[in-house]
Amino acid sequence: MRTPIIAGNWKMNKTISEAEALVKEMLDGLTAIQSVEKVLCPPFIDLDRVASLIQGTNISLGAQNMHWEEKGAFTGEISPLMLKDICQYVILGHSERRTYFGETDEIVNRKVKAALSHGLTPIICVGETEAQYDAGETESVVRRQVEGVLAGLSAEQVAGLVIAYEPIWAIGTGKAATAEQAQKVIGGVVRATIAQLYSQATADQVRIQYGGSTNSKNIKEIMSQPDVDGALVGGASLRPAEFVAMVRITAELYQ
Ligand code: 13P
Repeated sequence: MRTPIIAGNWKMNKTISEAEALVKEMLDGLTAIQSVEKVLCPPFIDLDRVASLIQGTNISLGAQNMHWEEKGAFTGEISPLMLKDICQYVILGHSERRTYFGETDEIVNRKVKAALSHGLTPIICVGETEAQYDAGETESVVRRQVEGVLAGLSAEQVAGLVIAYEPIWAIGTGKAATAEQAQKVIGGVVRATIAQLYSQATADQVRIQYGGSTNSKNIKEIMSQPDVDGALVGGASLRPAEFVAMVRITAELYQ
């Protein structure tokens, strides 16, 4: 009942011409797959070019970050007003934003509200550090993040969100969470917290991705878990054949 969603987070990679080459290599493979929603999230500078290349296809576009204000004296920032005509999605609260740029749950919450008020669908990232994992704090950390980023949202708003559970120890390390670990947090913490805060019916509508060292080898097992609705893919989304394979393998599971 939830359409699977695989998003490629290119992070700070690809010049405009490199972005164009990458999209051209993936375009036919991705557009041939109907049953999985595909989202490309290039750097801001590449958005316009990528938007032209995927126009009229079944591929969606997302930004990697956004300010919460519509306009004004915020040097270097990009607003929801600027994104809403070109993007459908925006990644918010990625752990790299939290770690290197000081984003808190409160800031992410403001951005989520701004995105929703402009018709953008947030892909909200949560996840624990390695130290928190080792200390057995995964559940409390992720629950607190989910509560923080959703504060003040209506059930209707929450139902349309995408949330990505990305354990920080799994990002870019080649050490993905096991499918069981992903299911345990995504079902047992993220979806369960939403059910407690809102209702089971609301929780059942939210799409929740796993992110962290996903590739064409581990995607099948991860996507086979009942509460995992997709993946937020970093490094592998820069390798066209690999990314297309991940989407194809996911589509096969949903036939
Ligand atoms: P990797 O897939 O490179 O581990 O990155 C995951 C990620 O952070 C996606 O947002």
